[in-house]
Amino acid sequence: MLSEKIVHNLKKSSGIRAMFEEGERLRKIYGSDQVYDFTLGNPDPEPPESVRESILRLVRAGEKGLHKYMSNAGFADVREKIASSQRAETGYKVEAHHVLMTVGAAGALNVLLKSLLNTGEEVIVFSPYFVEYGFYAENHGGRIVVAQTRKEDFQPDAGSLEKTITKKTKAILLNTPNNPTGAVYTREVLKQLRDVICKKEQQLGIRICVISDEPYTRLVYDGVEVPCMFDYFINCVRVTSFSKSLSLPGERIGYAVLHPEMEEGALLMDAMVFCNRVLGYVNAPALFQKVIAENLDAKVDVDVYRERRDLLYGKLTSLGFRCVKPEGAFYLFPECPVDDDVRFKQMALENRILLVPGGGFGQPGYFRLAYCVDKSMIQRSFPAFEKLADQAGL
Ligand SMILES: Cc1ncc(COP(=O)(O)O)c(C=O)c1O
Repeated sequence: MLSEKIVHNLKKSSGIRAMFEEGERLRKIYGSDQVYDFTLGNPDPEPPESVRESILRLVRAGEKGLHKYMSNAGFADVREKIASSQRAETGYKVEAHHVLMTVGAAGALNVLLKSLLNTGEEVIVFSPYFVEYGFYAENHGGRIVVAQTRKEDFQPDAGSLEKTITKKTKAILLNTPNNPTGAVYTREVLKQLRDVICKKEQQLGIRICVISDEPYTRLVYDGVEVPCMFDYFINCVRVTSFSKSLSLPGERIGYAVLHPEMEEGALLMDAMVFCNRVLGYVNAPALFQKVIAENLDAKVDVDVYRERRDLLYGKLTSLGFRCVKPEGAFYLFPECPVDDDVRFKQMALENRILLVPGGGFGQPGYFRLAYCVDKSMIQRSFPAFEKLADQAGL
């Protein structure tokens, strides 16, 4: 009865479900404070107070029509507010008609890929990558092709990109700050990518859309700058959400913004609005469009995450784990000290540490720890990491 493709994908992603179940089992046996779960990118801090105030105020004010359908692109006043904040932030002439309100960054990516892809066309991602990208491309008849990052700093390797672009390449997906590595792509590397893309577009007679997936742009540490992708790519759509920056992942609110000078930008926006409708999202959640419009300048306390990063990174490296220090997002991606990252996941589990093997991000030989968790859990986990390091021969 079921789709063969979905049944196949269910098997492929069953590891995540198994991990969740294993975590539940361990919590029942040992109590939740004795299980160290670093698997999910689900922010631990509560949303800023101003967000709760907006929710309450908007609901109490009971503005007529607040909960109705609106244009599939989103509320006009919200799109205008976002455009205005984008103009101030980036200096580009972003107008409301360049902004599409979406069901999180995930919704924006699906709408965009559906608008771009013909069957069999390719989307290039850099390894390691957010595993859902593969499913999203497949949703719309495409497939991902993997280019490499540099081992020493996880910056995209322009040479590898050059080898990966073919006549079938429709889009290149960049994610900075990155999940799972925490790398923030530098201006120098972005210039290299731009040069390669221009060269290959000319050689092959194709047009490539750069998709910048940016849900973590506000989560950066030590004064690191996140370059604006519009400075490098004109055929560019930036996609973001408030899931991580305002701790609102369950509310499913985000947006896509097109480069104002993008080729066929108006047609692409029409296509995206249409796809938002026919994918069944219809429109982004109404109440939360209004909430975030009032909170475009609200910030999470980045120092909270920086402190956790320093704590966990410091402990792991002192135990001998090798890890590129993340500059943004809330993940560590250390090298796996044993030859098989799935076996290592099992060893960690025996010490009640839950982590995700690098293979889950297309990069075996590593593991990911999400440190968007309570600081005391990180501290409590240290004896378990000491034991694990010892068992792994560090
Ligand atoms: C790189 C990346 N892109 C997109 C998403 C999806 O975010 P959203 O909750 O806004 O749909 C995530 C969520 O973890 C992510 O890590």
